[in-house]
Amino acid sequence: MPTCVVTGGAGFIGSNFVRLALADRPDLRIVTIDLLTYAGNLENLEGVPADRHTFVRADITDPDAMRRAVPDGADALVNFAAETHVDRSILGPLAFVRTNVTGTQVLLDAARERGVGRFLQVSTDEVYGSLAPDEPAFTEASPLRPSSPYAASKAGADLLVLAAHRTWGQDVVITRCSNNYGPYQFPEKLIPLMLSNALEGEPLPVYGDGRQVRDWIFTDDHSRAILAVLAGGRPGAVYNIGARSERFNLDVVRAILAAVGRDESLIRFVTDRPGHDRRYAIDPTRLETELGWQPQTAFEDGLACTIQWYRDHEGWWRRVKDGSYRAFYEAWYGKR
Ligand code: NAD
Ligand code: TYD
Repeated sequence: MPTCVVTGGAGFIGSNFVRLALADRPDLRIVTIDLLTYAGNLENLEGVPADRHTFVRADITDPDAMRRAVPDGADALVNFAAETHVDRSILGPLAFVRTNVTGTQVLLDAARERGVGRFLQVSTDEVYGSLAPDEPAFTEASPLRPSSPYAASKAGADLLVLAAHRTWGQDVVITRCSNNYGPYQFPEKLIPLMLSNALEGEPLPVYGDGRQVRDWIFTDDHSRAILAVLAGGRPGAVYNIGARSERFNLDVVRAILAAVGRDESLIRFVTDRPGHDRRYAIDPTRLETELGWQPQTAFEDGLACTIQWYRDHEGWWRRVKDGSYRAFYEAWYGKR
């Protein structure tokens, strides 16, 4: 039975990947490794087939724990585990360096020692920095110009992954995806934060003028792209993932308000995020032409499905919002 190790599999995209991969490949076995930080939640993995899934609670920065947790000769390791929220990286960057940079090197070493077949690093378009309104979308050849400590830590990890390929001939691939949305996303990110606040009748904090642009992709489409890169990506190559779906933040917020029947008086324009990237846009031509991947979900359909999921899973997001997240919300939004 092929075995895939998935780190960060109790988070938003990782849990989506675990569910989708196990459903798509009836012969696959997955070992999920996750520390269950504030962002990790075992509820996200409810219902995955227990006979083909094992969960290990461990820290990817702990070399001994990783040596123990990664099975000998596993076919692949997909590294989703990371600190992921730009605003938290501004309040406390060190945790980002630790998990995203050190953790990636620890995993590369453990994967080599254990003879893991392929290492897939889940990276982000944020490593490329910001685009002006008229610039072409990022390609894999765009220079790395990260703006936030989060993006810089992910860029550092990408360089370590490529160095492992050059130095030891390790079979690695890197994916750089645009902004994801979908069920189970932690309500600190734009779409679930605005949606859950709108459902509660709370103010919606829009940074600056709200005219920043993000390029949105539904999580299922990201997970399917990772499966395609795992199966057919060239060793040492980078693949951009995106659905050519650029939207102004303010338009996304307005669409959410309209869908839940709230009016725009809930919008609050608040002090901008320092170093805020103006625009992201991904050119996924390499993925489309080399591996035949195509996104399957239009933004409007994916958003409607996501809104319905949050309506149907109020208990999930209320439990998440009531935890340690309250302290972060106060520290970040309290004075904005
Ligand atoms: P998330 O914050 O929802 O989940 C991160 C997971 O990693 C959590 O389950 C957490 O418990 C786990 N984790 C954190 N530190 C750990 C550690 N030291 N050891 C073990 N586990 C640890 O994140 P997400 O949005 O699902 O993102 C997953 C990956 O995809 C990240 O690498 C991120 O950089 C990348 N990515 C995210 C987006 C996006 O829009 N969310 C876009 C492109 C790329
Ligand atoms: P976010 O979901 O944090 O993703 P990223 O910054 O990694 O792209 O934010 C998406 C966009 O939404 C970004 O331009 C910042 C903006 N934003 C707000 O305007 N208000 C908020 O409260 C948050 C969390 C984000």
